[in-house]
Amino acid sequence: MSLSDYVRVMPKAELHVHLQGATQPETLLHLAQRNGITLPAETVEGIREWYTFQDFDHFLSVYDLICECFRSGEDIELALREFSAGQAAQNIRYTEVTFTPPRRIPWPEQFAALRRGREWALTEHGIIINLILDIPREYDAAVGNLIADWAIDGSRAGVVVGLGLGGPERGNPAARFADAFEKARASGLPAALHAGEVVGPESIWDALAHGFSARIGHGVRCLEDPRLVEHLRDRQIPLEVSPSSNVLLGVCSSLAEHPLPRLLDAGLYVTVNSDDPPMFNTTLTDEFLRCAEAFGWGAERIEQLTLNALRVAFYSERQTLVEQYLAEFARLREQFGIQTCEPVESASHIGP
Ligand code: ADE
Ligand code: ZN
Repeated sequence: MSLSDYVRVMPKAELHVHLQGATQPETLLHLAQRNGITLPAETVEGIREWYTFQDFDHFLSVYDLICECFRSGEDIELALREFSAGQAAQNIRYTEVTFTPPRRIPWPEQFAALRRGREWALTEHGIIINLILDIPREYDAAVGNLIADWAIDGSRAGVVVGLGLGGPERGNPAARFADAFEKARASGLPAALHAGEVVGPESIWDALAHGFSARIGHGVRCLEDPRLVEHLRDRQIPLEVSPSSNVLLGVCSSLAEHPLPRLLDAGLYVTVNSDDPPMFNTTLTDEFLRCAEAFGWGAERIEQLTLNALRVAFYSERQTLVEQYLAEFARLREQFGIQTCEPVESASHIGP
């Protein structure tokens, strides 16, 4: 059995992936059609091309238009079901998916849809899907407070497990949303903010100080500040690293140049994620395989990174999951008679 076979079948976990950013072209066309929204393309191929990276602003405009296509609870539930089926197909048994809540849909309708979607994922596929609601950075503080209220309310029955901050990092510091994150913290709801992706270390310090960020979305630019590296390492603050996203959004020039190996060498707590998979022509499985090929990783490294994700999940049963995964890794290795895996010959490539 090759490493790629093993990575495909092993149970996996993902902490940083966006529901809207994971919307497949077919689903988007369906949502746009039923809501009477005109998209820049009318075919799956056309949408795929439109998704293709041009620059960060184009990426955010695509993301915003996808958000526009979510007009009802049924739209949210459909997207969540399709997303869950994709996670199940990769044997990703635990996911924290970030959802940008549309203001035009009443929160109770959104909550009911998210709840139905994740229950479907559990009964139909046996996988756990927990939600993180994110505040788009370009919004004003009042909207941030509203989304924090929704996230706190959504933590009933464990549907929402965290509060996030996404969107254009430059010029939109987390400090503007300090009230929202303070409110979440006071309610026991943890935060995971995007930071240190487009902006340097100061943005990560800002996310820690004003957002109480328990994990950092991306965070790869921390390496520019040795004091920050020390701070993150000493506290083992997890970084949600998304290699293909970083390459395609221009955070680094190629996967070979990606700072991931340096983050690991620095003793930082790393997890691997897909971010917005169809936009970056990837999946979590592909992320592991591409990294295995680029950095010479074996099965142990990928198992370790999977356990890293579980151990810092915003989920009270995470330790049970760790034990289940460890047993499953051992069972699979035994079943397939693998001690050490063969190297990956060729992973799929980044980009269209
Ligand atoms: N929203 C979805 N993906 C994002 C990213 N990589 N950076 C900022 N906001 C996002
Ligand atoms: Zn993201």
